[in-house]
Amino acid sequence: MAPKLLCFLIISVLVAYYIYRPLPENVEEGWKVMIADSFLRSLGHLGSLSELLGLGHYMDVMMLYTDFDFTPPTSDENITVTDTTFNKVPVRLYVPKKKSNKLRRAVIFIHGGGWCIGSPAMKTYDRLTRWTVERLDAIVVSVDYRLAPKYHFPVPFEDSYAVVKFFLQKEVLTEYGVDPNRICIAGDSAGGNLAAAVTQQLQDDAEVDIRPKIQALIYPALQPLDLDTPSYRDNGHMPILSKSLMVKFWSEYFTSDKSLFNAMSSNSLKLTESSHLFPFLYWPALLPEKMKKIHTYSHSLQSRTPEFAKKYPGILDPRAAPLLVDDAKLSRLPQTYILTCMYDVLRDDGVIYAQRLRKAGVEVTHDQYDTFHGAMTFVAFPTDLSIGHTMTDRYLNWLNEKL
Ligand SMILES: *[C@@H]1O[C@H](CO)[C@@H](O)[C@H](O)[C@H]1NC(C)=O
Repeated sequence: MAPKLLCFLIISVLVAYYIYRPLPENVEEGWKVMIADSFLRSLGHLGSLSELLGLGHYMDVMMLYTDFDFTPPTSDENITVTDTTFNKVPVRLYVPKKKSNKLRRAVIFIHGGGWCIGSPAMKTYDRLTRWTVERLDAIVVSVDYRLAPKYHFPVPFEDSYAVVKFFLQKEVLTEYGVDPNRICIAGDSAGGNLAAAVTQQLQDDAEVDIRPKIQALIYPALQPLDLDTPSYRDNGHMPILSKSLMVKFWSEYFTSDKSLFNAMSSNSLKLTESSHLFPFLYWPALLPEKMKKIHTYSHSLQSRTPEFAKKYPGILDPRAAPLLVDDAKLSRLPQTYILTCMYDVLRDDGVIYAQRLRKAGVEVTHDQYDTFHGAMTFVAFPTDLSIGHTMTDRYLNWLNEKL
C-alpha cells in the first residue's frame, strides 16, 4: 500500500475514533450530535492545554465558539435589528418593521453559555430570536450581559436585571409600542438560570409595577449545591455538556479559585439535613420514579458548604440558585414553561423546579425530550437536528399561545 494512502487511512481511523462515542439507543441523528460534540470537546482540550502552558484561561479558548458564530446586527425586509444599550448594558434589539395598530408582545431573551461564553450576536441566538419575532410579531430584547471569569457573580445577574428593569418602565414600553401585560422573560441554560433569577427578584422589587406575564426556561441550571443528582450521575459523560464542564461553569461563575471547582467536583458542597434549605433540593422527595431509577441519595460525609458560603456567598444566593427559595416565594411566580432533556446533567434541576412550582400553585408546562443539553441550538448545517426544530417549534407555540 502506498504510504500516503496508509497515512490517510490511519488519520481517518483516528478522527473517526475521536468523533465516535456510544449514544443512548433512542437518540436520533447520532452522527450530527457527535460532530457538534467533538468540536466542543476539541475546544475544551485546547482550553486545558492553553491553561497548562500558561497561554490563557480555559474560557478564552471556549469563547472562540462564540466568535466563530458571530453575526453583525442585520435588518431584513421584516425586522429592524440594532445593537444598543439599556441602562448601560448592551442589548441586541429586534423590532418588526410592519406598522401595527395595536400594542405588541415582547420577549426578553437571555442567552446561555455557562455564564462564561455566548452572545446575542451568535448566529445561533440571532436565528432563534428572528423566528420568535416572526412567529409572535413581537419585539425581542436579547441581553448581552458581561461574562465570567472576567466578571463573576453577581455581574451577569445584575446586568440582566438592569436591562429588564429598564425595559419594564411604562415610558419605554410605550416608546416601543409594547403591551405591558404581555411580556415574557426567557433564556436557555445559564440564560435560563438568569431568567428564573430575574423573574423571582422582580416579584419583591418595590420599584417595579410591570411584571412579566410568563417565563420560559430552556434546560436551565438552577442550583450549584447538589451536582450529584441522578441526572448528574447518569449523564456526566454525555455529549455537549459533561459534568466536568458544568462544574467548571458553575465554579467560574463565582471564582477562578480552583478550590471551589474541586469541592464541587467531589460533591462536598451538598447541604446537610440540618440546613433549612435542604428540603428545596432533596431530590428523593421531588423527582419522579423514572428519573430516580436505582439511585439512592448519598449524604456527604463532610459538607464544605458553610466554609465556601462564607467565602462565596453566591452559592446560597437565589440570584444564582433560584431553587433555593421557599414555596411562598415560588407561589407568586408567573406561568412557566420548562424544557428539559433526558440526557442532560441539568435535567433534574428543571424537573425539580417544575415540580416545586406546581406544588406552589403555579401553572407549568413541562416538555422533556430524549436528547442532549443544548439541542435547541443545533438547527443549522452541519448539525441540523430535527429534534432541535421540534423543540423550537413547541417552545414558540407555547409562547404564542400564552403570551
Ligand atoms: C418576511 O415576511 C414574509 C411574510 O411573512 C416572508 O415570506 C419572508 O420570508 C420574510 N423575510 C425574511 C427575510 O425572513
